[in-house]
Amino acid sequence: MKKIFLNWKQNGDFTKIANFKNNVNKQDGVVLFVPHPYLTFASSIKYDTGSQNVSAFLNGAFTGEVGASMLKNCKVKYCLVGHSERRKFFNETNQELSSKIKILKSNSIIPVLCIGETLLERKNGTFLNKLKKQMEIYESGVLVAYEPVWSIGTGLVPTHDEIAEISKFLNINYSIQVLYGGSVSSKNAKSILSIKNISGLLIGGASLKYEEVNKILDENSRN
Ligand code: PGA
Repeated sequence: MKKIFLNWKQNGDFTKIANFKNNVNKQDGVVLFVPHPYLTFASSIKYDTGSQNVSAFLNGAFTGEVGASMLKNCKVKYCLVGHSERRKFFNETNQELSSKIKILKSNSIIPVLCIGETLLERKNGTFLNKLKKQMEIYESGVLVAYEPVWSIGTGLVPTHDEIAEISKFLNINYSIQVLYGGSVSSKNAKSILSIKNISGLLIGGASLKYEEVNKILDENSRN
């Protein structure tokens, strides 16, 4: 079964997570990326969990930050690193993201490095260079999610061939398979899951709707 990563972003609460458990079909490979206050609850009702972010520091006087050892304590298995919203709104740099990857790995949490080009970079043909730059901090033990910035939350999805080009490029250059994220829905999940070297989906908006998630899980089990 391919991985289905559900990124709730800054949404949800205890009730929504409990309802989710009651309404969404069970499937191996599903991981809930809920906000930090809900991680322990989600894992207590038997979900594999992922964090949306981690501090670049071990621990200490960094008010408001959540460290990797704390996530490990909450049974978190995965952590997003460099989601485009964090790169954009919190100016995350490769150097900082590289520290996060190392700290996560030393706490046995699998980093999920998010990479992706902007619409301008897609249009002017510099997108592969952009991905190469973002991949400079890649190391073994890291999962990679290809999420074109112009596709996130917009309803615009790259074509089958465009995604296949990127997954092939990453497979040839780094010997990896990748997750795809960006406006995934029950309408396009089947086609994206069928692409070579796509190991799963990272889903934002649609992950908040039970019916959508169930349909996507059905496509995954049929794939
Ligand atoms: P989206 O978000 O599915 O709403 O486009 C994906 C993501 O941000 O990971």
